[in-house]
Amino acid sequence: KRNEETITIAFSQCVGSDAWRRNMLEEMKRELSLNKNVEFVYQDANNNSLTQIQQLRDIAKKKPDLIIISPNEAAPLTPIVDSLFKAGIPIVVTDRKTTSNKYSAYVGADNYQVGYKAGEYLGSKLNGKGNILQITGLPLSSASQEREKGFYEALKSFRNIKHNTKINGQWIRENAEKALLTHPFPVNGYDAIFAFNDQMALAAHQVVAQLYGNQNTRIIGVDALPGLDNGIDLIYNKKIYASLLYPTGGKECIQTAMAIISGRAYEKELLLESFVVDSTNVHAMKVQNDKLITQQIDIDRQQKLLEDQKRVFIGQQRTLNFLVIS
Ligand code: FRU
Repeated sequence: KRNEETITIAFSQCVGSDAWRRNMLEEMKRELSLNKNVEFVYQDANNNSLTQIQQLRDIAKKKPDLIIISPNEAAPLTPIVDSLFKAGIPIVVTDRKTTSNKYSAYVGADNYQVGYKAGEYLGSKLNGKGNILQITGLPLSSASQEREKGFYEALKSFRNIKHNTKINGQWIRENAEKALLTHPFPVNGYDAIFAFNDQMALAAHQVVAQLYGNQNTRIIGVDALPGLDNGIDLIYNKKIYASLLYPTGGKECIQTAMAIISGRAYEKELLLESFVVDSTNVHAMKVQNDKLITQQIDIDRQQKLLEDQKRVFIGQQRTLNFLVIS
């Protein structure tokens, strides 16, 4: 690609409305604003795999230079993603995967590790004994499948921990709440609940509080986002016990995409780090996040100032040209 040409990056997002994915898009846009001549095509499949397949077909017609995709469910999205890749379009898979390895790069955390760390953590917090409920995401999505595998593997060595009860919350708070309300809870409740994201962990907190009042089920989630009613805030306010940080990788996706398009070196598997956030480090996380937010506001202000100056400059040049010509 020559420098002056406009390049097109398409992003097929499985769902766009939740805080985690809004964060991801925000990060992408910030990174995109640092690159010239990039057209960004964005499609949101609203949790629906058939919609996402159709949207990918439409995207292909635009002949993009690269497609970033977070596949809603692995198996249903595999044929279309494979065929686009075989047709020569570079593919960056992010957060969730298909069932094949036909992609140029993966950007995101290792979901097996996320599940594994959750298992290890609860195993040790429960002192090797107890009864855990899992609230999974969409069973066909790779993130849910991998978190479940990792969790299972980590708890294998804990013989006195029961962890085979699971309900399907489909990644959505309201759906998790509905599933929990019809779930036959044990008389004394669970010792712990592993919800595969913080929104479903919040649903668990609310239902458990309704059923048992103030009790000590250790509820853990995944994501640890800043912002009201997101992970960090929920841990801080003791509504959930812990969360696994799950970085959105928006910035890294765009960086990887640009590297691929311009023929620079890139990592085939760009794995972002995940770690446990709980009462021991939540305060530090909060302070750091607040600082990042104010820094971002400063950067945005500087950018706006630069744009204003550019506008004034262009205006002055026009006046000058006009004066010279007349
Ligand atoms: C957001 C989300 C996150 C979760 C991820 C898994 O849509 O549900 O909460 O960590 O997707 O793919």
